Amino acid sequence: MKADSNSKPQFQQTFQAGTQFQSLFETLLEARKLQECSTIDQKQQAESNLAAKLTAKTSLITGQLEELVCHPEYSRHVIGIRDGWTGIICRWQRGSLSPIHGHPAFTFYHVIGGLFAMDIYQRTVGKRVKPEDHRLLAAGDSFWENGKEGQYDNLIHRVWAKSGGFTLHLFSEDPAKGECFYV
Ligand SMILES: [Fe+2]
Repeated sequence: MKADSNSKPQFQQTFQAGTQFQSLFETLLEARKLQECSTIDQKQQAESNLAAKLTAKTSLITGQLEELVCHPEYSRHVIGIRDGWTGIICRWQRGSLSPIHGHPAFTFYHVIGGLFAMDIYQRTVGKRVKPEDHRLLAAGDSFWENGKEGQYDNLIHRVWAKSGGFTLHLFSEDPAKGECFYV
């Protein structure tokens, strides 16, 4: 799929990972606590602790990651769902580009391995967006946002895999509800 696609083909590449990532999902759920941090120091400390735990845990399961279905663009593997909170591992091929898309209220990203460029957009009129920010995310980096509940236009972005790799995600609801947008 390409960024200018009008459909949601990315969701056709979603697989159920089974129970082999249960322990990783339990740790990933700790990302929910980031919302409770009231100061920047607390937030940075919590982010750094969680990233270290996730990096340690994922370093032990590289074999299981390599066994995940490898789609020509990218594939999404659901590793757990609890009270609507959904954990996903994405396996990316070098050069893969997601559509410009939004998310439910809470979104957490952690790069397990690889290098990813993320373009962040601001909604303008209707389904149109304009560029707002750009960042590079490498192995061990985390990124999260707590947006508006009941909306699926939070953290509007596009991800471009500069290398093959794996990313880990936690969403407060089914991410398939996320809307697609256009520049
Ligand atoms: Fe996303």
